[in-house]
Amino acid sequence: MIMKIYYLLTIIPALLMVYTAYEIFEFRFRKYVHYKLDLGLGIRACLITDLHNKSFTKRDLRLLAAEKPDCFFMAGDLLISKEKDYKRGLEAVRQLCALAPVYFSLGNHELKYRKYYSDQWEAFIKALPGNCYVLDNSHRKLGEGAEIFGISLRLEHYKKGKLYDMSKEDTDVFKDIPAGKKKILLAHDPDFYEYYDRVLDADLIVSGHLHGGFVRLPFIGGLVFSRYGVKHRVKGIYAGKHLVSSGAGEHLMPLRVFNRCEIDIIDL
Ligand SMILES: [Fe+2]
Repeated sequence: MIMKIYYLLTIIPALLMVYTAYEIFEFRFRKYVHYKLDLGLGIRACLITDLHNKSFTKRDLRLLAAEKPDCFFMAGDLLISKEKDYKRGLEAVRQLCALAPVYFSLGNHELKYRKYYSDQWEAFIKALPGNCYVLDNSHRKLGEGAEIFGISLRLEHYKKGKLYDMSKEDTDVFKDIPAGKKKILLAHDPDFYEYYDRVLDADLIVSGHLHGGFVRLPFIGGLVFSRYGVKHRVKGIYAGKHLVSSGAGEHLMPLRVFNRCEIDIIDL
């Protein structure tokens, strides 16, 4: 009996570790999730979130190019807030910009990075290619029929524990919103979906941040979250217009169980 418990306590965690390593390293960018939305734009976008200061291998780039994206949406956490050296994140943007324009919004890691390494942040922004568009509470044209927006939130919104009360927050974030166009919002943290709906009547919202819940179980979904008081939107499409990616990377602890890194291909 004792031997059986011993085996259970050692072999099961060991198998889980091997499987996690397999998911993270062997299949890092092989999982492409395809979505078809009916916006009538004729645009194929590729969503990459939570890359966390990693660049792409030649194989990754071959697979990305084969999807023939018209543009990339990078919805935050391209960098790691505590890694002063941004070179791999910058290299990733350059690699993508060689394929198609990149629309990049800020996540909590960029907000922290900008606060603590302001000189490096400025250098990073200056070094971005001309067809990388940073959407920091701003918007710009996307093709003929759409406008793309990026919301940045503030660092205090990302506090762990109870969900930050956004009821008194400014909803006048975006100025001069053009009428008669489809609106796409890059919003890193999916938990604030009620706030996003008050800020902008978007046709599509894309988010990441929660890494799919880190550990996923069949029929249950993601398990690990840092907040309560919210019905999490973790992975997939919600309310017919909010797409949440489980993200393309990880940092600190490379924990992903039954939850591969993913890149999302969206036909708009
Ligand atoms: Fe994040």
